[in-house]
Amino acid sequence: MSRWSFVGRRDELSRLLSAVTGTEGRGLFFSGSAGIGKSRLLREGVAALPRDGYAVWWIAASATTAALPFGGLVQVLPAEQPQGLSPAGILRWAVDVLQQQAAGRRIVLAIDDAHLLDPPSAALVHLVARAENATVIGTLRDSEQLPLPIRALWTDDLVDHVELNPLAPAETTRLLSEMLDGPVDATSADRLGRLSAGNPLLLRELVFAADRGELTRTYGVWKWTGRLELAPNLTDLIDTRIGQLTPGVRAVVELVAFGEPLGLHLLNQAVDPADVEHAEERGLIVVVRDDRRANVRLAHPLYGEVMRRRCPVSRTRRLEARLAELLEQIGKRRRDDLLRVAVWRLDSGTAQDPTLLLDAAGQAFARYDVPLATRLARAALDAGGGFDAAELLATILMFADRPEEAIAVLDAVSAEIHGDRRLSRWLTVRGMVSYWGLSRESTVEEIAARGSTLEDSADQARVLAFEGIMRLHRMDTGLALRLGQTVLDRPAASVSARELARSTIAYLQAAQGQLHRSAAAIDQVQAEAGRWRADMPYLQLALELARGTRLALAGDLAGIDAIVADEFADLAGAGDFRLGTGYLAILQAYAARLRGQSDAALRTSLEACAVLATSRVYAGLAQAERAQAAALRGDAAQAAEAMAEADRTHAPGMAVLYPWLEQARGAVLAAGGDVPGAAKHLVQLADRLRTDGFAGHEVHVLYELVRLDRATAPVGPSCSDGSRRTVAQRLAELSERVDGLLPPLLARHARAAAAGSADDLLAVADGFEALDLAVYAAEATAAALDRLRRQRSPAAGAARERLAALLGRCDLIRTPALQAGAPALSEREWQVARLAADGVTSRVIAEQLYLSARTVENHLQRIYSKLGVTGRAELRAALRAIPGHEGGLAE
Ligand SMILES: Nc1ncnc2c1ncn2[C@@H]1O[C@H](COP(=O)(O)OP(=O)(O)OP(=O)(O)O)[C@@H](O)[C@H]1O
Ligand SMILES: [Mg+2]
Repeated sequence: MSRWSFVGRRDELSRLLSAVTGTEGRGLFFSGSAGIGKSRLLREGVAALPRDGYAVWWIAASATTAALPFGGLVQVLPAEQPQGLSPAGILRWAVDVLQQQAAGRRIVLAIDDAHLLDPPSAALVHLVARAENATVIGTLRDSEQLPLPIRALWTDDLVDHVELNPLAPAETTRLLSEMLDGPVDATSADRLGRLSAGNPLLLRELVFAADRGELTRTYGVWKWTGRLELAPNLTDLIDTRIGQLTPGVRAVVELVAFGEPLGLHLLNQAVDPADVEHAEERGLIVVVRDDRRANVRLAHPLYGEVMRRRCPVSRTRRLEARLAELLEQIGKRRRDDLLRVAVWRLDSGTAQDPTLLLDAAGQAFARYDVPLATRLARAALDAGGGFDAAELLATILMFADRPEEAIAVLDAVSAEIHGDRRLSRWLTVRGMVSYWGLSRESTVEEIAARGSTLEDSADQARVLAFEGIMRLHRMDTGLALRLGQTVLDRPAASVSARELARSTIAYLQAAQGQLHRSAAAIDQVQAEAGRWRADMPYLQLALELARGTRLALAGDLAGIDAIVADEFADLAGAGDFRLGTGYLAILQAYAARLRGQSDAALRTSLEACAVLATSRVYAGLAQAERAQAAALRGDAAQAAEAMAEADRTHAPGMAVLYPWLEQARGAVLAAGGDVPGAAKHLVQLADRLRTDGFAGHEVHVLYELVRLDRATAPVGPSCSDGSRRTVAQRLAELSERVDGLLPPLLARHARAAAAGSADDLLAVADGFEALDLAVYAAEATAAALDRLRRQRSPAAGAARERLAALLGRCDLIRTPALQAGAPALSEREWQVARLAADGVTSRVIAEQLYLSARTVENHLQRIYSKLGVTGRAELRAALRAIPGHEGGLAE
């Protein structure tokens, strides 16, 4: 009785179909209680999809696959994942695979029980959902916790949501006759319908549970004489049914409950194939044929839940050990099998093979599942994995923000440091944990001293590369550069040591304004990723920091978008790879801020602060970015509070980030109304940056001065006549030394501001707009408008329109530059002006505001002259061009 036809749900089905075939491209998720019919509905929907033009994947997440990274997509992804990919790399690879297989067709991912997706699979689903040619549909069970990337499908507006209701009585009756393959008498149908409360699974279990004699058929009509009066609990019913299984069938269901999806071949080796058939006949399991092999799954997730709950711990462990054994015997076919075996071994307490565990830990780490990798590596160490296991475990713990434990793990194997090679590895991992994890600055000298005792050139180079990057972070930049160069010059240096050194240099180049050279170096490090990742996965962080710094300094927002979209690796977030996620969130907030999206900037920087709260590496930077976002919104209190947090959390070992923190301090002062104080601070900062040779940062700080109307303020080195240069002059000078499109534009703005040229300011605004730098564009336009208005130039109208359009694209922004030229209207004037701009006549305005018509006219005249417009026609644009007010204009 397993294949009855589908009943009811017409509206839901057609919504599902139009979600896939419609033009909007937005997917659809059904949620509802257990057994209400979500999976069936999804399956019917998928079956009804047109065959042509759609590449459909069916993904059934389950409790067993949820434990493995990419376990949920095991049926979809190729068995072999390329080695050495970053979190983003893995996701990109997986998306490419799907795109290739789709071959131009629309991608449809149908995900049953999406709440059970493992984090990386969930991340991938989210990424696919964002693609133009893809739709995600699926089901969720009520009140289950959702993986973040799945929840984000709603917040990002990629899917709609429909709550699935119980079936109506007439439908339950039809379903009942479908199940029994014949009509059912009205009373029985009514009773069963009420007992099941429209839940198809409950109905089905009630029918299954009917004792011999309770269901009878007379003249073709079914009658139910069961005695139940109150609705039984669904799980109790299943529980009873499972309790009555023969030992053979039970063994089948148990193995599948702990091991699904299980190859049919494997299952048949473990149990009597006749019992497998019985279990299938009785609707407990289903055999799904994929292109590669026949897989067995439970017919319904509740069977697994009941089964697993019923199973005592000792039996669970025996089953898991048995599953591991079976898979080992039959030969691990997929890469995933290694992880499955290892996890079963771990869970069953039979993890004795350190090599297996270490391999599996490496694999889990390569998929950035930090919690699982930690468990496996620890088990490997406990099983006698020795030095190698300790090194891997410590590395993973460092990523998981648990430096104290990492140090303890390393110190426990210090007796096993035989030979130079091990010493060099031990020193570097320990050094990293101690320096960044525990903020112990003396680490640098320690590893330098012990490293110098090494004889082998390659081993020495590894330590030197580490010393170099630590020196960089400590602002010992001259030495950092020399050390980096030394490593690059050593032919014996390993790829990892060399690329770490190159990342150090790439960071320095960016800070110094050599953005092209920095980009080339970063590309080179990236290109070698396959050769360093297994040996030195944390190099990713150095690479990301160098790349992020370069993009931020270049004002390359599109570049930031690209790495955020890629690397933001929901995957990294999901796998608890916090430093990576947190840093990218800071970059994302920065890009949003420069675009004037102050809501997103604040939200994302807050997220970054939350993710990084326990880390000593980027916490201060995250807070500084939050201070900037708050300052942009004119929220002086929050800005000051965030700045105080930045100072509290900023680690001295991260001194190299000082330009960002100090720049934020300037913005915070200005937002608090202390523009002179801000300017003074920024002038000093510019001097310091000049001394440090950080020209890439210096242009930004000088530009902050321009934004505070200090283009002609003295700054920088003295000229030959002993006078100091102005901000504008210094920017002009730097624009020839610092790479990229941005510096000349910043310099031009400074010049135009100094000269008071409205035309130039407008041209500069064009340049900023082309780079999507909306805040700068708006400020330049506002400055131009201010001048045009004072000159009573007819060009003011067009400038005002432009400013209005620019501000219309931004969220709330209140900066000193925008505020400076903005006309100030009184509350009353605002009221009158808004109504007038909406086309309300003076007479009606007068009535609404209880004023005389004459007073309204007087107000309007004053408003026109404050705004520099000639009449009502220009009022609307003029109001929209006033920044930082929640305009009440009807759109
Ligand atoms: N509209 C329907 N017509 C016919 N059979 C249905 C219908 N809805 C559900 N069923 C059957 O009822 C049973 C339970 O439905 P289903 O597995 O879809 O529930 P579910 O909501 O996915 O539950 P869970 O949350 O536990 O996954 C299945 O055997 C299914 O085939
Ligand atoms: Mg289901």
